[in-house]
Amino acid sequence: HSSSGINSGKPEGQGQADPTAENSTILTTRQGHPVYDNQNLRTVGNRGPATLENYQFLEKMSHFDRERVPERVVHARGAGAHGVFEAYGTVGDEPISKYTRAKFLQEKGKTTPLFVRFSTVIHGNHSPETLRDPRGFAVKMYTEEGNWDLVGNNLKIFFIRDAIKFPDFIHAFKPDPVTNIQDPERQFDFISHTPEAMHMITFLFSPWGIPATYRHMQGSGVNTYKWVNKEGEAVLVKYHWEPLQGIKNLTTQQAQEIQGKNFNHATQDLYEAIERGEYPEWELCVQIMSDDDHPELDFDPLDDTKLWPKEQFPWYPVGKMTLNRNPVNYFAEVEQSAFGTGVLVDGLDFSDDKMLQGRTFSYSDTQRYRVGTNYLQLPINRPIAHVATNQRDGQMAYHQDIAPGTNPHVNYEPSSLGGLREAPKAGKDYNPLYEARLVRQKIDRQNDFKQAGETYRNMEQWEKDDLIANLTDALSHCNTTIQEKMVGMFFQCDQEYGQRVADGLQAAAERMKETAGAVGDANQAVDMAEDKAKP
Ligand code: HEM
Repeated sequence: HSSSGINSGKPEGQGQADPTAENSTILTTRQGHPVYDNQNLRTVGNRGPATLENYQFLEKMSHFDRERVPERVVHARGAGAHGVFEAYGTVGDEPISKYTRAKFLQEKGKTTPLFVRFSTVIHGNHSPETLRDPRGFAVKMYTEEGNWDLVGNNLKIFFIRDAIKFPDFIHAFKPDPVTNIQDPERQFDFISHTPEAMHMITFLFSPWGIPATYRHMQGSGVNTYKWVNKEGEAVLVKYHWEPLQGIKNLTTQQAQEIQGKNFNHATQDLYEAIERGEYPEWELCVQIMSDDDHPELDFDPLDDTKLWPKEQFPWYPVGKMTLNRNPVNYFAEVEQSAFGTGVLVDGLDFSDDKMLQGRTFSYSDTQRYRVGTNYLQLPINRPIAHVATNQRDGQMAYHQDIAPGTNPHVNYEPSSLGGLREAPKAGKDYNPLYEARLVRQKIDRQNDFKQAGETYRNMEQWEKDDLIANLTDALSHCNTTIQEKMVGMFFQCDQEYGQRVADGLQAAAERMKETAGAVGDANQAVDMAEDKAKP
């Protein structure tokens, strides 16, 4: 992908100073003026005052003042790597063309360059990588038909199923607006009113909420997508990344030990593994369902709080990803990278999943603000596929998307003066029929607790123990109304699960009473001692 200019910083065809020339290591301003003195401000006498016509200083300092772009509103802390995807060309025993016409997936052995960004969600850009949080798993494939982004997480489900709740959910999990401290009472206040989150909470508070490294975690598209074949026929799909290094998670105690020594361990692990030539690999698997609402299931296939049971909907491997190159500039490649759920190639489509549709608005909207109007012209985001548009100008327009041989006067379409023309269709259109009332309603088949209970029962003993300890610890910071609502919901997931959280909370309350008693006794002793000491 380096040939597409990720590191070159110059649009094709524009003259560039000869890097081998004798003066090539001379420091200059951005205007190309040599810098003769980089140590001393220009001042009236060597004690000042400074002069304002000093372009060199003003450029240097005002650029420094603008070095940061706003961090991502979520997933601010991340690490990235370049790599390659190799297609298998099949789904089980069948050619993949039966399900999708996306070109990069068709041929066995076909490779596509890609960039991945892993992340934590809630805290800022330099927060510890050991925190309990979902991990982002965003992949950008530079395919011959344009970019495909799969913006996923390590966990396979989510907290909410309707996009309109996302800002509230994130506000409850982010630090308190008054104290700037994350507060379990605010988190569980929201969750106690959000029963669909119980499944995700069960994963998040278990060791699955702290993956050991980015290399040892799964990835998932979480939301339901569609595939469309040449005949215009669609199926529902879910995507999963399975790490060939294996899966490793941490208990709270293990995470705290790492955090005490190194709060960048995940970024460091990824970077160093790639430098050593130990390239991490993931297999991309898909689950497939026919394109309808599946009344026989006790959940809705478009509900992202549910797993599609593996026994019923097997995981079919369709390709492999290898990460084999570190970024050379964190800001240019990792910070400015911009992924979105709307970024699909022909043959990959949306589903009516209400979260997915809300996400698809949000990503490019935030990126036009965070990175800028022309974020898609940046080398990390630019497709390697042919790009020719009639979009022009805007802040930091870097070049025009003009195709060679077309008339540069024509920045509109249609035209008979030699402008751009529409592409021929790649296959039959997929035209689903809709007929329903426009409403604001929850989906049917909410079934908020059943899978959460199954997930609890499927955990190993040490995972259950860690889950209960973590929940008890977090809930002990909440008022009794929230505690009681939460315990009630854990009981609805699973009898034992509810009982253990209830017992844990009671034990915590007793411990607190004892400590309060001990502190009270100690205070009394101090008071008495002070009284005695009084003359
Ligand atoms: C990042 C919105 C749900 C995975 C972001 C960003 C926004 C956002 C605004 C920052 C993007 C940027 O600055 O470039 C939303 C909304 C959601 C939602 C509105 C629900 C309605 C999800 C879900 C997943 C997810 C369900 C998991 C599948 C990610 C990832 C990133 C991200 C991995 C980081 C991408 C990167 O590395 O640049 N999200 N999100 N989000 N989101 Fe979501």
